[in-house]
Amino acid sequence: MKLFDVYPLFQIEPVKAEGCYVYDAEGTKYLDFYGGHAVISIGHTHPHYVQRVEAQLEKIAFYSNSVIIPIQKELSEKLGKMSGYPDYNLFLINSGAEAIENALKLASFHTDKPRILAFEKAFHGRTSGGLQVTDYPKMRAPFNGSGQLFLPLNDLVAVENELKKGDVAGIVIEGIQGVAGIVEPHHDFLVGLRKLADEYHAVLILDEVQSGCARTGKFFAHQHAGIQADLITVAKGMGNGFPIGGVLIHPKFKASSGLLGTTFGGNHLACAAAMAVLEVIEQENLMANATILGDYLIKKLLEIKQVKKITGRGLMIGVLLEGGKQVRDNLLSKHKIFTGGASNPDILRLLPPLNITKLECDMLLEAIREEVSVTL
Ligand SMILES: Cc1ncc(COP(=O)(O)O)c(C=O)c1O
Repeated sequence: MKLFDVYPLFQIEPVKAEGCYVYDAEGTKYLDFYGGHAVISIGHTHPHYVQRVEAQLEKIAFYSNSVIIPIQKELSEKLGKMSGYPDYNLFLINSGAEAIENALKLASFHTDKPRILAFEKAFHGRTSGGLQVTDYPKMRAPFNGSGQLFLPLNDLVAVENELKKGDVAGIVIEGIQGVAGIVEPHHDFLVGLRKLADEYHAVLILDEVQSGCARTGKFFAHQHAGIQADLITVAKGMGNGFPIGGVLIHPKFKASSGLLGTTFGGNHLACAAAMAVLEVIEQENLMANATILGDYLIKKLLEIKQVKKITGRGLMIGVLLEGGKQVRDNLLSKHKIFTGGASNPDILRLLPPLNITKLECDMLLEAIREEVSVTL
């Protein structure tokens, strides 16, 4: 059997990883400013993470959600406390798309309404519900439905016009749009959405799958706007590579037996991984590191005259460069630095582990400076 060929691949085979670096079979060292797509939050193979997952593996790795699993409670309490949502409830699943799927369903159950509002260039995952609110038509099969309206970001009038129709269960928005190329909604727009959602009894869903887990210098990106969401989706950095996702749920949502469910979600091993991530974020002050080094990177990038635009905050940064695609390719092939791409190929997406150091930021900056002077 062959693999189903859906991924364009870099011809690189990492066999080992540590901190902010990955190594291939020949021992070539790569600096990771991509974090395997914002997944590596506390650094590769962090010793505390390895120890906690190994210790859990030796005790019990999995049992179904039909028994008491105390580490789920530990995780929900720690996540609630660290994220500033201590009175919310947590539903655990395995990925970002599943988190979104469950959040959309909860909004619809709660309001008994069918429709979700979403925004242009949004990406919320590739399950059926996720695709309905994802503005990349090529990803959608006929089965996934069509006809979803994507509203312009930052346009409160357009949102209110839809809410007035009376069939809207919820509004879903990324804390910072990732796939779109790191696009942050205006803070007054988020404040306006919160007000409109309250006024029209719609559920406000913040998708923090990519922008969450301390990446932007607050636990969730929407907290920079000073708002609270009704439902928050998390995944990616939550497990530092171990598949886990979650929905943080406002206490007004009533749980009932069988309303949601999953086989693997919240298993012992996944919870141990997520606990380790939260412990390291706390112990190593990674939220502050994301702010300090994010500010540093942005300041230094803005000094490069070929940089057309910088977006994002903390360690979720978009860099628009003329000829950016070539620069990105050269960063990898010549300088051995991974960065992420975006729907606009001239945007570099910087999503490094949150424990990246100034030295490593300087290495990236130097490589970009060299490339823009050669390429452009
Ligand atoms: C904002 C956002 N939501 C949802 C998803 C889907 O997550 P997953 O790939 O874990 O299903 C992604 C993945 O890139 C994402 O960036």
